[in-house]
Amino acid sequence: MSRITRPLRVGIIGTGGIAGQHIDGYKKAEGVELVAACDVVESRAIGMKEKHGFQLHFTSWEEMIKHADLDAVSVCTPPFAHLEPTIGAIEAGLHVLCEKPMALDAIQAQQMVDTWHRVRVTKHNLFSVGFQSRFGKNAQQLKRFIEAGELGDIYYVRAAYLRRRGVPAWGVFTNKALNGGGPMIDVGVHVLDLSMWLMGHPKIQSVYGASFRKFGNRANVFNPWGSWDPAKYDVEDSAFAMIRFENGAALQLEVSWALNLPRSVTETLICGTDGGAQLEPLTLFQEKHGTIVDLVVPEKVTEGQDTARQPNHHAQMIAWVEAIRSGTQPLVLPEQALQVSKIVDAIYASSEASASVSF
Ligand SMILES: NC(=O)c1ccc[n+]([C@@H]2O[C@H](COP(=O)([O-])OP(=O)(O)OC[C@H]3O[C@@H](n4cnc5c(N)ncnc54)[C@H](O)[C@@H]3O)[C@@H](O)[C@H]2O)c1
Repeated sequence: MSRITRPLRVGIIGTGGIAGQHIDGYKKAEGVELVAACDVVESRAIGMKEKHGFQLHFTSWEEMIKHADLDAVSVCTPPFAHLEPTIGAIEAGLHVLCEKPMALDAIQAQQMVDTWHRVRVTKHNLFSVGFQSRFGKNAQQLKRFIEAGELGDIYYVRAAYLRRRGVPAWGVFTNKALNGGGPMIDVGVHVLDLSMWLMGHPKIQSVYGASFRKFGNRANVFNPWGSWDPAKYDVEDSAFAMIRFENGAALQLEVSWALNLPRSVTETLICGTDGGAQLEPLTLFQEKHGTIVDLVVPEKVTEGQDTARQPNHHAQMIAWVEAIRSGTQPLVLPEQALQVSKIVDAIYASSEASASVSF
């Protein structure tokens, strides 16, 4: 495809919290025109339009797609409202970046991917999912180490996104029908996607999962992020899984919004035949000349790094715009996001059945 040289006309569907990150990222990318903001709550769409200088606002994504003459949209609605606008925008030939989790479940995610495969043949539009962790400075550097063979064959990964107490008590997060699940589908997907990418997307063989709801239905749980109605809380508050791959590798995943542990921790630990690595701080664990060594990458490698509050989000948006401009596939491919959805479904199914799920 040839490069697009005119400004890209962009719209946002769902003008809540995460939309702000997309907009700030679009502003950092060059040659983007913020054309239309859409939210079912009109005051939010208007607020976003006025704050960021969008030309138009809508309360219906269908109307926006019909009338705003867009090139691309960000789908920033809650998970229950990802499927329809994503499919509608893909069908209209737009480039679509859908927020995580891709969908409520893998059936919906598959529908999105199938639609995209059918439409892209003639419309050449791109589709991606908001797994911004891959764009982090350390993640990008670690991927380069792995691709250069510093770790050898990766056979074990431990990924954790554990909050001691951090239940998002607002919005739809604690509602299974609207959010798809609890911390596994909410934040687990980030570390799961990152791990799968670092491992080179090996083929999944089986999943063994265990999820728990030990806090959600209790009254007066200590939670710095507000309170919820315990009678309505119907998602897990922690979940754990072991994923086996056809190449023999294993991935251990641990996530929680509430768990009695010493402190909250986000961790990605990769173990290979020639070395290991952790992400924060980025460190390689190797053996050299008869001893073990740790190679630590300093936090500030160069002056003038991106000091924005959310550099991963911004890097994601800049890369997304560049992919559209150059007509190259984005870093996060739809099939890869679909695999994440399939694993999450399998973790929930395995937990329910107390048995492993084979792929
Ligand atoms: N990538 C990340 O790190 C990250 C961080 C936070 C949230 N998210 C994801 O982003 C999505 C949105 O989360 P949020 O925190 O911004 O939610 P939010 O509740 O703050 O905002 C969602 C907005 O979508 C609007 N909306 C709902 N249905 C709509 C529809 N059919 N058409 C148009 N607008 C509609 C709501 O009125 C609301 O204003 C979720 O999928 C969430 O998991 C991702």
